Amino acid sequence: MDKIVVHGGHRLSGSVKISGSKNSALPILAATLLTSEPCTISRVPDLSDIHYMLTILSELGCEVERASGVVKIRAEKILSQAPYDIVRKMRASVCVLGPLLGRQGEATVSLPGGCVIGDRPIDLHLRGFEALGAAVRVTGGDVKVLAPKLRGATISLRSKFGSTVLGTDNVMMAAVLADGVTIIDGAAEEPEVVDLANFLIAMGAKIEGAGTRKIIIEGVKELHGAEHEVIPDRIEAGTFLAAAAIAGDHVRLLRVNPLHLKAVIDPLVDAGFLIEANGNEISIRPGVKRRPLKLDTLPYPAFPTDMQAQMCALLATTEGISVVTENVFPHRFMHVAELKRMGADIDLQGATLVIKGVPQLSGAPVMASDLRASAALVLAGLQADGVTEVNRVYHIDRGYESIDEKLNGLGAQIERMKA
Ligand code: EPU
Repeated sequence: MDKIVVHGGHRLSGSVKISGSKNSALPILAATLLTSEPCTISRVPDLSDIHYMLTILSELGCEVERASGVVKIRAEKILSQAPYDIVRKMRASVCVLGPLLGRQGEATVSLPGGCVIGDRPIDLHLRGFEALGAAVRVTGGDVKVLAPKLRGATISLRSKFGSTVLGTDNVMMAAVLADGVTIIDGAAEEPEVVDLANFLIAMGAKIEGAGTRKIIIEGVKELHGAEHEVIPDRIEAGTFLAAAAIAGDHVRLLRVNPLHLKAVIDPLVDAGFLIEANGNEISIRPGVKRRPLKLDTLPYPAFPTDMQAQMCALLATTEGISVVTENVFPHRFMHVAELKRMGADIDLQGATLVIKGVPQLSGAPVMASDLRASAALVLAGLQADGVTEVNRVYHIDRGYESIDEKLNGLGAQIERMKA
């Protein structure tokens, strides 16, 4: 198993190109199941999660061609049951349920288990399908949804944690081919939901309100093939902003959408960094003095849970006391014990971290069992004294395209080694 070895103490400067969004590309690729005509999706990042999704689509019967970020898919004749072996590797495979149900009238997918960031139920997805007229059955570890004809309905996707991103995607993908009008109340407002809606609209769907809490979908008889470019990955961009804040002099992010990053840029400015956004570029430089922060994760447009761990790596060496509360996945703290092994002073109280900044972390062998937690450890290693070995690197490869090469391009010294 590969590991990443970070030699701390090298300053970052220069520019880095941000890739297409993983969390947009996954449901968009699944949405190609909604038409028998060919679709072309560009700016698809080269990640293992994307590879899993393309394998699921192939096994469902799609013709898939991929060349340097462009994926061509034709779902002419497809099956309705996704293969367990692949589905179990990636929770996002649950987002084939909606398009399969919409197009085929039935879908079977292994029920995703809990994962390291928490319980992760799909009750809201299923509640949405039921409201559209589907029968839902769970047997032998599979969830089966069945509805020879879906009917538009008013559906609330609100939960105590806010809305659900993939649940909104799933219900939207099922509803585009339903009879009549569907209203999703309490929809997720994330840019990735808007990106999916834009692709569906390009395929001939009638959707209004994506990006707000209320999405209105008027069902159409069929969808056609379309071309689409995936939006920039705001979490990869946020991770590079955090890396630059931790160890950078002057770093520029290229091919980003600054509007999607307000909830990350604002706290970094509060923390004392000088940030300028210009068109599709963002630059970050250290200010005179760093300040501690109070952060609360919440659904978009608030501060994202997917940036919590990386910001903890920054706050671990920010003088003063920072307080970070995780409201979306209240158990998402796999980075904490590992950061403590590197010398961080962090106290976990319920779903709140109290972080007392220390002057410097020290390199150590660490491992994390979650994508963002692993990224946070690489970031912590950038300024730590000595060498940080981040094990189980496959977690990072699920969601960051060549993070080691991109950081090295900015001046970091990172090696990838066979463990
Ligand atoms: N929830 C329910 N019932 C449901 C669905 C969700 O209670 O049926 C709860 C979850 O347990 C959680 C909250 O609602 O507490 C939000 O979960 P959500 O459904 O929005 O998460 P998701 O759609 O499964 C996506 C991203 C995650 C990201 C979350 C929140 C993808 C592929 N994944 O997951 O990304 O953390 O939204 O923004 O889009 C990552 O990229 O590292 C990652 C984990």
